[in-house]
Amino acid sequence: MKHPVFAANWKMNQAPADAKAFMRQFLAYYPRQQDRTVLFFPSALTLSAVVEMVKDRTDLSVGVQNIHWEDKGAFTGENSATIARGAGARYVLAGHSERRHVFGETDEQTGLKVAAAERAGLTAVICVGETLDQRERGETNEVVLRQLRAAVAHIEPNQIAGSLVAYEPVWAIGTGKTATTADASVVHQAIRAALRDLTGERGEAVPILYGGSVNRGNAAALLAAPEVDGLLVGGASLEAENWAGIVRT
Ligand code: 13P
Repeated sequence: MKHPVFAANWKMNQAPADAKAFMRQFLAYYPRQQDRTVLFFPSALTLSAVVEMVKDRTDLSVGVQNIHWEDKGAFTGENSATIARGAGARYVLAGHSERRHVFGETDEQTGLKVAAAERAGLTAVICVGETLDQRERGETNEVVLRQLRAAVAHIEPNQIAGSLVAYEPVWAIGTGKTATTADASVVHQAIRAALRDLTGERGEAVPILYGGSVNRGNAAALLAAPEVDGLLVGGASLEAENWAGIVRT
């Protein structure tokens, strides 16, 4: 029996007032359900508003979209894991495709961020995924597993076992193109095998989420695929009724 994880990545959308209006609606549409976990990743400036709105709901948690890899210091414009944790975050996205491809984040930096998250007590959602070129060259599993191993290079096996992984093919993000359930499952199974190598039996329990143009129409089929334990959703998480529909899948 799966305990699915539904994660909303709001990216650079939803100011604090928008987030409050969203959450008022969402909470009305979605009464507590203990058989699933729902995570919100708002902008760092919107985080506190969301934390406040969900404080009475143990089934809902909040995270940041990015952190710096150092714990503190002269890094103007950045947020540390400690600051995020202090502001109420419990999770952090690490190595999201847009961090890698728009901001040039490297595998090594992602690994350092995952280690910083662990030091501060944040749970990392490690994001991996291949570009279209890499898929067409048949390099998908190689790329995804290289990203995964680099992301966990600076943490211990028990900490790996406490993390989440999100497979988000770059070509499926914001494009309306979704991996077929079969394609997603092949990659998820490769990730599961790598997690077993890294952590032994404990690797079985690491949730592996799929992301990339998930919507109300395709969520159920993706979630039913072998080794798909949850969904990481961008565009379709921005409207409360729509998001509640996905979360109730
Ligand atoms: P979309 O759902 O908008 O394709 O975004 C996916 C994503 O990047 C979630 O992190």
